[in-house]
Amino acid sequence: MSKQFDLIVIGAGPGGYIAAIRASQLGLNVACIDEWKNIDGTPAPGGTCTNVGCIPSKALLQSSEHFDQANHHFKEHGIEVSNVSLNLNNLISRKNSIVKQNNDGILYLFKKNKVSFFHGTGSFSAKTENGWSIKVSSLKEDLHAKNVIVATGSSPREFPGVKFDEKIVLSNDGALNIKDVPKTIGVIGGGVIGLEMGSVWRRLGSNVTILEAMPEFLMSADFQVSKEALKVFTKQGLNIKVGVSITDVKVSDKSVTVKYKDQSGSTTDLLVDKLIVSIGRVPHTKGLNSSSVGLLLDDRGFVVVDSHCKTNLSNVWAIGDVVRGPMLAHKAEEEGVAVAERIVGQHGHVNFDTIPSVIYTSPEIAWVGKNEQELKKEGHSYKVGTFPFLANGRARALGDTTGFVKVIADSNTDEVLGVHIIGPMASELISEAVTIMEFKGSSEDIARICHAHPTLSESLKEAALAVDKRSLNF
Ligand code: FAD
Ligand code: NAI
Repeated sequence: MSKQFDLIVIGAGPGGYIAAIRASQLGLNVACIDEWKNIDGTPAPGGTCTNVGCIPSKALLQSSEHFDQANHHFKEHGIEVSNVSLNLNNLISRKNSIVKQNNDGILYLFKKNKVSFFHGTGSFSAKTENGWSIKVSSLKEDLHAKNVIVATGSSPREFPGVKFDEKIVLSNDGALNIKDVPKTIGVIGGGVIGLEMGSVWRRLGSNVTILEAMPEFLMSADFQVSKEALKVFTKQGLNIKVGVSITDVKVSDKSVTVKYKDQSGSTTDLLVDKLIVSIGRVPHTKGLNSSSVGLLLDDRGFVVVDSHCKTNLSNVWAIGDVVRGPMLAHKAEEEGVAVAERIVGQHGHVNFDTIPSVIYTSPEIAWVGKNEQELKKEGHSYKVGTFPFLANGRARALGDTTGFVKVIADSNTDEVLGVHIIGPMASELISEAVTIMEFKGSSEDIARICHAHPTLSESLKEAALAVDKRSLNF
């Protein structure tokens, strides 16, 4: 069987499967190849995001939040519950069934959009007169296409000398599948995964210690947000150590000892039942056979692309985690759509200045645009308005008044340069800020928009009013 396509997409994560669907909508004959499989060997499209990332982590965050609420907060609402107990098996099964629904949803979308799906590893076989031959591990004969999109994603980075065994030393995969709540968990890396997975297991009963190398907590966020987050997470019971230098990790059958030096120079041996390593991710190009066709990778292993996601090979594109830029599902999706549109001659576009970042802890943290440190460094003249959720009626009714909204606008033009939120539903609230920034709106624009009452979104309006020192409710 020899199959000719207009486009072959290698990888069916959020970058790849969205690119395949968009290209098919635009009239191309598209194949998508993905190697991820369930325990029973059946296809599990959706990539890291669906299988061991965004979706399962949010399922566990929601379940563990309910458990925490039942244990600690229902009382405030006048609801007395006794003997709250955890069925971890059911909690994990629920997560697995949500993942499966998403896998099946993608297979359904492929059918609906007439994308030919092939389960197996895709690798470059040869350059042909009209394009590329791609080998699929499960097929005897190659597939052919004029255009190829590489969307092969990323893998967890190992701590030097410490292998993931997913029993004691866990990547994101193992951290989503622990069978019994450990008494103690150590986390190397206080970034997004460390905070989200650390929060899940703390809520379920583990004593969690996070070891972060950087001298300050959450340095990628606005300093005011990081300060508030550190205060709240510490109060919740997360042990967060910053500025640590890990000098040794000893793994035994049932535990791990992590030796680290803190900022004062003193050394501690941290003994834990499980160790989650979340120190970033590395691009995944294994299996692509990239060197056989001369696909250019940089010294960190990313596929080299220009601002249009073009690689050094003709009609070969690359998107998502395997190329430069933030490793986020929505960034991968935007690049997928843009490349599909470019292939048919349209002007696909990704605005890197308005990609939102979200951390799904409680409270949630979300931002878009520049933070104060960045603007100071640039010497940009700006004004700031903040509004605390404590003064928001809906937040009081919810029983969750932690945090604030911060709007930063240009001193001269009033254009919104950044919005930073820590508080309830920050992940949802940030989209209004993204929209405003996408349209180059001003803080006055936000302030003049009618927001429903009582909603958390009124806090964004109030923070925008505060830029002009005229908050109405604070
Ligand atoms: P991937 O999702 O990694 O997909 C790549 C696919 O290609 C995989 O299915 C892989 O099996 C397949 N593949 C690789 N090589 C081959 C080959 N040679 N042949 C065939 N198939 C191949 N991002 C967010 O925006 N929000 C979140 O809440 C969020 N939470 C996360 C939580 C965790 C724990 C983790 C680890 C990540 C999270 N991310 C989140 C990041 C997000 O998962 C990634 O940015 C996103 O999945 C990248 O999409 P992608 O399509 O580039 O790659
Ligand atoms: P990260 O980049 O968010 O955090 C890694 C942290 O580890 C950093 O703070 C870094 O300083 C620290 N670190 C690195 N080496 C260290 C060492 N030797 N000792 C101690 N600390 C060390 O990476 P993370 O959390 O692994 O996540 C990977 C990617 O997945 C991120 O790029 C993120 O964008 C994505 N992701 C996104 C989520 C979301 O959007 N909500 C959720 C989870 C992951």
